[in-house]
Amino acid sequence: MNWISIGHINEIPRRGARCVKTPDGKIAVFRTAEDQVFAIEDHCPHKGGPLSQGIVHDASVTCPLHNFVISLETGKALGADEGQVKTIPVRNVDGELSIALGEAALVAAE
Ligand code: FES
Repeated sequence: MNWISIGHINEIPRRGARCVKTPDGKIAVFRTAEDQVFAIEDHCPHKGGPLSQGIVHDASVTCPLHNFVISLETGKALGADEGQVKTIPVRNVDGELSIALGEAALVAAE
């Protein structure tokens, strides 16, 4: 895995998100009320809504456009809705966060 530093957990509001641009696309990094951190594609599986602007509750986010609820743990749409976004591994070392990007993204970034 290639870990890319994305800053400190305190730069993300609780129950909020910040976006990280990568050659793989925009990644939304979420912080839950319990200080868990998850990273998923910032692209709703329904019609591409910006999940980073959604409402975080427990370990899920509700899309701001049409209210799909996406699990931050699995990237899957919950309830009756269907769809899946890519999840990205996050490492949290004393609040310093990194995400794992694939080889292809790193090559593209050079
Ligand atoms: S784009 Fe997310 S629910 Fe429609």
